[in-house]
Amino acid sequence: MPDFTAFQTPFFQARFAGRPLALAVLAAFLFFASTAPAVEPETVSARTDALLARMTLAEKIGQLTLFTGYSGITGPVKEQGQQSLLKQVCKGDCGNVFNLISVAEIKKFQKVAVEETRLHIPLLFGYDVIHGYKTIFPICLGAAASWNPALIESSERVAATEAAAAGLDWTFAPMVDIARDPRWGRICEGAGEDPFLGSAIAVARVRGIQGTNLAAPDTLLACVKHFAAYGAVQSGREYNTVDLSERMLREVYLPPYRAAIDAGALSVMSAFNELNGTPATANRFLLQRVLRDEWGFQGFVVTDYTAINELVMHGSAADEGDAARQALPAGVDMDMQSGAFLNHLQERLAAGQITEAQINAAVKRILEIKFKLGLFDNPFRHCDEQREQQAFYTKENLATAYRLACESFVLLKNTNQTLPLKVGKNIAVIGPLADSRRDLLGSWIAEGKADSCETVFEGIQRNNPGAKVTFTAGCDIDSTNRAGFAKAVTAAKRADLAVLVLGESCEMSGEAKCRTSLGLPGVQTELLREIKKTGKPVVVVLMNGRPLALEEESQMADALLETWFPGTEGGKAAADVLFGQHNPCGKLPATFPRAVGQVPIFYAAKNTGRPLDPANPKDVYKSKYLDCPNDPLYPFGFGLSYTTFNYSEVRLERATLKPGEKLQATVTVTNTGNYAGAEVVQLYLRDLVGSVTRPVRELKGFQKIELRAGESREVSFSIGENELKFLRADMTVGTEPGQYEVFIGSDSRATAVAKFELLAR
Ligand code: BGC
Repeated sequence: MPDFTAFQTPFFQARFAGRPLALAVLAAFLFFASTAPAVEPETVSARTDALLARMTLAEKIGQLTLFTGYSGITGPVKEQGQQSLLKQVCKGDCGNVFNLISVAEIKKFQKVAVEETRLHIPLLFGYDVIHGYKTIFPICLGAAASWNPALIESSERVAATEAAAAGLDWTFAPMVDIARDPRWGRICEGAGEDPFLGSAIAVARVRGIQGTNLAAPDTLLACVKHFAAYGAVQSGREYNTVDLSERMLREVYLPPYRAAIDAGALSVMSAFNELNGTPATANRFLLQRVLRDEWGFQGFVVTDYTAINELVMHGSAADEGDAARQALPAGVDMDMQSGAFLNHLQERLAAGQITEAQINAAVKRILEIKFKLGLFDNPFRHCDEQREQQAFYTKENLATAYRLACESFVLLKNTNQTLPLKVGKNIAVIGPLADSRRDLLGSWIAEGKADSCETVFEGIQRNNPGAKVTFTAGCDIDSTNRAGFAKAVTAAKRADLAVLVLGESCEMSGEAKCRTSLGLPGVQTELLREIKKTGKPVVVVLMNGRPLALEEESQMADALLETWFPGTEGGKAAADVLFGQHNPCGKLPATFPRAVGQVPIFYAAKNTGRPLDPANPKDVYKSKYLDCPNDPLYPFGFGLSYTTFNYSEVRLERATLKPGEKLQATVTVTNTGNYAGAEVVQLYLRDLVGSVTRPVRELKGFQKIELRAGESREVSFSIGENELKFLRADMTVGTEPGQYEVFIGSDSRATAVAKFELLAR
C-alpha cells in the first residue's frame, strides 16, 4: 500500500489504508455526514506544500486538467469512450472530471483515482447545476425577477444539497454576466442588466451553493462565470467579440464577479470571448491584475470549454502549444477539455517558455481547494447511494421551487382587473406552450425531469372545477402552420375568456441560442390576432428566456403575465397565480424593448447632449428614432400587482450630506387596493454633475415588503459614500461633491424625487 502519510488525516490513514474500500467509504460517510469540520487554512497550506513536494511534473499537470464525462456535454469531445477517460485518470493525466452523474459513476472514477494513482489524489467532480439539479427552479433571469436574494439563496441550497447527494463537488455557477442585449441567448442564465441587483443575487447564489463550510456534506464549490464581460458580446451573438472601455467594464460588468468573490466563491471560469483584443482565457489584466492583485482572489481559475484551444481561432496563439504557453502565465490554473496543458506544458517548460513556479502555483491553488472541500479526508464524502435516493424532489425542495416560481412572475398588464380569474368561468386555454411540460424547465436543466410537472392547462383545470376548460394548441411554437387556428377560434368563441400561453421554446435561449428578432416565433402573434377578433377577454401568459419586443401583443392582451421558464413547480404556480391564490410581485430585471432596433436598451443610460424632451417628441435634432419612441415597452424594475401601491413624496433627513455621514431617505408606501401584496420598493440615484458623465439613474437599494390591503409602511434607505462613489475621471473610486437626485418608487421610472447636496471634504 502506498504512503499516504504526508497529506492524509489520521482518520483517513487509520480507516482507509489497507482496508477494503467499501468499508472505508461507509465508515467515512457515516463519520463525515454528521461532522464535517471546516478544514483550517494553516493545515490546508501545509498539507498542500507537503503533497506538492512529492509530485512529479506529470502528476502536477494532471491536476491542471479537467475532462468531460458523458452527460450534459456542451462542446467537442476529443477522447472516446469511458475506458479512455478512466485510463487517463488512472495514469494521473486527468485530475478532475465533469459531466458525470450519479453516485455510482462518481464512485467508480474516484476509486480509480484514490486507489490506483501513485499519490491517491482525489478527483474533483463538476457539473452545470444552473437553476437546480433535479428540482428545477425558474431560469436565473426569472429568479432575478423575484428581487428576493434570500429566496434565491434558499433555491441554491436546495440545488447544492441535491447535487451533492448525487456525488458532485463543484457547480459551474453562478453565471453573473450582466446582459443588456436580449438577442444573446444566455441572458436567461444571469440576473439581467443591472450591476447592483446582479451583485446582490451573485452573493446570494454563492452563499447558497457554498454554505458556510465547503467540507459539509451538502455544499458545493461555486464557480463564478464567465470572467469577464461575456454578456457584452457584439450584436448579441454568441462567442462574439467584446470591446469595452475599462470604465464600462469596471462600473457595469465587473461588480457582480467581485461581489461573488467577496462572498467567498473559490473558483472562477474564464470566458470564451476576447476583451479589447485579448481573449479572456489569456488575459493577464483580468486574471492576474484585477482578479488576484486587486481583489485578492484565493481560489483557482478554470477555463471555459476548450477555451485554450480557441485562442488559435481567435488569432492570438499560433497553435495549441502556444495557447497553453499563454494561458498558464496569464492566470489560468485548470484547462477544461482542451488538453492543451496536458499536451504541451512539459515541452514549453523544457523550452523555458514557462516556469515550474507557475505550474506549482496553479497546482497549489487547485489542491488547496480539494483540501478545503475535505476530499483528502474523505474522497467519497458525497457518495452515499441511500442519501442519493432520498435527496431529490423532497416536499421542502418543491415548496421552495413553487415559492420562487410565484415570486418570479411579472404582471405586465391587467386592464379592467381581468386577473385574477374567477372560478366558474369557461376558459379556452390556447397556445403551443399551454400544455408543454418540457418547456417549463427552460435550458440547462441538469438532471431535472419534466414528466411529473403540472402544465399551465392542467393547473387551470385544477383551479376551476366544475367549469369547462378546453385546450387547443392553435399553432406550433415556431412554424408557419396555421391549420389549428380555426379550432382555437371556435374554442375561444364558446368560452367566457381565452388564456393564451405563448412564447419561446426552452431551446430558444441558453448557450448558442441567439436571435435577431425579439418577437414571438412562428405564427403565434397571428393566432393571438384571430383570438382577439372573437371579442372575448384575452389573457396572455408568456414563457420565454429573454426580454421580448411585444408591443402589438401587449396591446391585444387584456392581461399579460410573464412567467419565464418557471421550473418544476412553475406550471402549477402560474395557474395558481392566475386564479389569485398568490398575488404576482415580480419586477423586471431587464428592460423589455418595443423593437429590436432599440437594443441595447437599459435604464441606466447617459443623458446625452441632446436628450429628447418627452413633451416635445417631434423635436428634430434630438437623440431619438424616426420610427420608434425612445422609451421601452416595459422598463427595468417594472411589475404590477393585483393590488395597487401608492408612494408618498420622498422625505430626506437633510438637504446636505457631509462626507462620511449618512442620510435617510424615506417614503410611505400604502396598499391602496383590495388584495394583500408584496412590493419591491426601489431606490435610484442620479449624480447631476460629475468629473465624468453619470447615468440618468442608478439602482442603489431595494426592499421587498408585504402589505395587507389598506396597510401603510415607511420604508427608509440610508445614503452614504457607498451609494455615491463611482469611478472618477482619474480612474480612482470615490465621491465628488455636488447635487444628487433621489428617486424612490416601484420601477426605474419612479417619479417621487428629492434632492440633496454632498458637501466638499
Ligand atoms: C459553457 C459553460 C459551461 C461549460 C461546461 C460551456 O460551453 O459556456 O457555461 O459551464 O460549457 O459545461
